Amino acid sequence: MFEGKIKIKGAFRMKIAVIGTGYVGLIQSVGLSKLGFDCFGIDIDENKIKMLNAGKSPIWEDKLEEILKKHNGKNLKFTTNFGVIEECDAVFICVGTPQSSDGTADLKYIFAAAEGVKPYLKKNAVVVIKSTVPVGTNRKVSKILEGCNCDVVSNPEFLKEGSAIDDFFNTDRVVLGFEDNTKHEARDSMMNIYSYFYEKKTKFVITDWESAELIKYASNSFLAVKISFVNEIARLCDTVGADIKDVTKGMGYDRRIGEHFLNAGLGYGGSCFPKDVNALVKQFEENKLEAKIIASADEVNLGLIDNFFDRILKKLKNPEGKNIALFGVAFKPNTDDLRESRAVELINKLLKKKANVSCFDYVDGALKNAEELLGNKIKICKTVKETAKEADVIIIATEYSQFNDEDWGAIAERVNTKLIFDGRNILDKNKVVKYGFEYFGIGR
Ligand SMILES: NC(=O)c1ccc[n+]([C@@H]2O[C@H](COP(=O)([O-])OP(=O)(O)OC[C@H]3O[C@@H](n4cnc5c(N)ncnc54)[C@H](O)[C@@H]3O)[C@@H](O)[C@H]2O)c1
Repeated sequence: MFEGKIKIKGAFRMKIAVIGTGYVGLIQSVGLSKLGFDCFGIDIDENKIKMLNAGKSPIWEDKLEEILKKHNGKNLKFTTNFGVIEECDAVFICVGTPQSSDGTADLKYIFAAAEGVKPYLKKNAVVVIKSTVPVGTNRKVSKILEGCNCDVVSNPEFLKEGSAIDDFFNTDRVVLGFEDNTKHEARDSMMNIYSYFYEKKTKFVITDWESAELIKYASNSFLAVKISFVNEIARLCDTVGADIKDVTKGMGYDRRIGEHFLNAGLGYGGSCFPKDVNALVKQFEENKLEAKIIASADEVNLGLIDNFFDRILKKLKNPEGKNIALFGVAFKPNTDDLRESRAVELINKLLKKKANVSCFDYVDGALKNAEELLGNKIKICKTVKETAKEADVIIIATEYSQFNDEDWGAIAERVNTKLIFDGRNILDKNKVVKYGFEYFGIGR
């Protein structure tokens, strides 16, 4: 993470408003305040703003609360009052773009945010769309803001939940989409805001609105394709007796392929990949094109949970009344976010079969959210050992490498049945087999 103080170059110390204090907006306002800008985090959710003003983060990310506490009330303020935008040189829009029932991105929050800021924009302000939006959205927002003498810039976000603060300060690239007639003031503002990244030689892609919008969807969908591709190979591994771990190791050493995103498992979840893949497929359809590869990635991904669940059922026979120990509830490690979590999908399937489910996650916020979501239908546990007590099966649902370092000897003593379904291929099979566990991974 960036430590110390940065000198902001350029003519002025800007005031920046960030609309939305969710995973993207909060990291953006907190990150920019650490870089020395004067920031306002604005949200329509009064409870979030109340919490933030008390120095508490509504979401959990490593290092987030520490920076929040340091800048809160000083050069970082939170409010529901859009009026503060009158003072601001730049306004980042970071509201949600969830999936509509037809698979397209729902832009109602984007348009409402644009309408919300419109009355307060000062001359030459720059409105930056950070949310993930389909091609054409920056143009639509620009239409809404006609007559405001402001500029709209596309600046998609690439942070990963679980490492969001580090990603903010060490992003791989900054993408900026301008219009041909974007005023030089707006270009200067953007370079001023991103001067820290420019100086540390981060790669910049300066392009048009449409390309910037598409870079985000193409990136997420490419990663989704990579995951689904590996999961497809894993199915063949299961049938022919190959080990997907060795197959992907051999693939990943090829620098053209790369080692990342080659883990077979329960597939992708979370608030971004599923909706972004679908929204991109819809953008093809709207343009009378067919996204064959991208659509298949989604199809493969959807089948993974059912396949995994069927394998568990085959082994357990009737899960009714059986004790299930679920290791991991969030959609990925080091986050409290349960949106589109594969673990939650599994829990719901198990509850439908009247199984008793106990869960554990290393992030307390994830367990708190699970409790809020599922109430007393599940048992929330503070340790893996507590979760494993009298378990008939242990299921690993979130990709925490720490599960491998747990005391599997002690866990073996607590369970009813020494049976593991590792949905993330995280465990060293030999290690658990040594303690008498029967082990089932994915493609192993
Ligand atoms: N979460 C991620 O990892 C991630 C990464 C990259 C990009 N994105 C994209 O960033 C966008 C935001 O995602 P998120 O996960 O931060 O969403 P989120 O749901 O966590 O946060 C959205 C926030 O916007 C607020 N909001 C909605 N309408 C508003 C309005 N009119 N005025 C002010 N505030 C308003 C909501 O109350 C909420 O706090 C989405 O387009 C998403 O696809 C997300």
